[in-house]
Amino acid sequence: DLYNFRLIGPDTKVHGVIGNPIGHSKSPHLYNAAFKSINFNGIYLPLLVDSVANFIDTYNSPDFVGYSFTIPHKEAGLKCCDEIDPKAKEIGAVNCMIRRTTDGKLIGYNVDYLGAIAAIEEGLQALNGSSNTSGSLLAGKLFVVMGAGGAGKALAYGGKEKGARVVVANRTYDKAKALANKVGGEAITLAELENFHPEDGMVLANTTSVGMKPRTDQTPVSKKALKHYSLVFDAIYTPKWTRLLQEAQESGAAVVFGTEMLLNQAFVQIENFSGVPAPKQLIRDVLARNT
Ligand code: ATR
Repeated sequence: DLYNFRLIGPDTKVHGVIGNPIGHSKSPHLYNAAFKSINFNGIYLPLLVDSVANFIDTYNSPDFVGYSFTIPHKEAGLKCCDEIDPKAKEIGAVNCMIRRTTDGKLIGYNVDYLGAIAAIEEGLQALNGSSNTSGSLLAGKLFVVMGAGGAGKALAYGGKEKGARVVVANRTYDKAKALANKVGGEAITLAELENFHPEDGMVLANTTSVGMKPRTDQTPVSKKALKHYSLVFDAIYTPKWTRLLQEAQESGAAVVFGTEMLLNQAFVQIENFSGVPAPKQLIRDVLARNT
């Protein structure tokens, strides 16, 4: 029941996730089920694409209205938009594109940042055991972002926007420095992170790709260093329990799964594509059934 074939007709709006490889993506399950449940005449396809520019040119039609970008095309998204939303421009990464109905132009957005920060805030709220109405629970916190690629930029920007004190820790120092400068934060290397503990109760986010290959990958930071964190988030969602999150839990930290970022992103994109609120519980159930 992945596609709602009976709903597909001349007015159906086409969406998809652009990547390579793409067969493993859970997104088509989530989006198609959501579209059906809200009676939105749209379809969402896994799009195996080599050249994003060629793809966008070839399908430059009013019916092709929305795309998400995944590995290795996150940078390509930035280059192929007609216009870029000011926040995505500031972050320097686009992971969602929508065709504007008035003039057909393709507008690039960043929803990584909204999805990840919402997931971390929910985790902090659960940890605090209180509902927070006045501002973000990230405000004032020391927020360490490991990685300085597309996802690292989104997290660092989101942390800054929520009033956190941002530290960017990256294998390559220069990239950490460039990002830290942009968000008014501090830059260190991953090696330096091992002995970085100016205070306890810090929040840690992994956006490096370390942990995606569970059989061979180490963790981006040692278990010893994890005792200084109250909450650890991993942007990786396959596997759901990365070694980093296992060790974080063993060290007494709260953990936030990458699937929470995926879900929160899906909520935002489905609302952007359809114009109505996303059916959140249904989307959660579909993801649970497909993992
Ligand atoms: P994404 O768009 O998903 O953030 P990316 O732009 O390719 O992906 O960024 C990958 C990040 O993972 C980078 O911060 C990279 O560090 P470098 O800037 O030093 O390349 C980090 N990364 C990848 N492999 C790594 C490894 N084996 N050890 C540590 N960091 C790694």
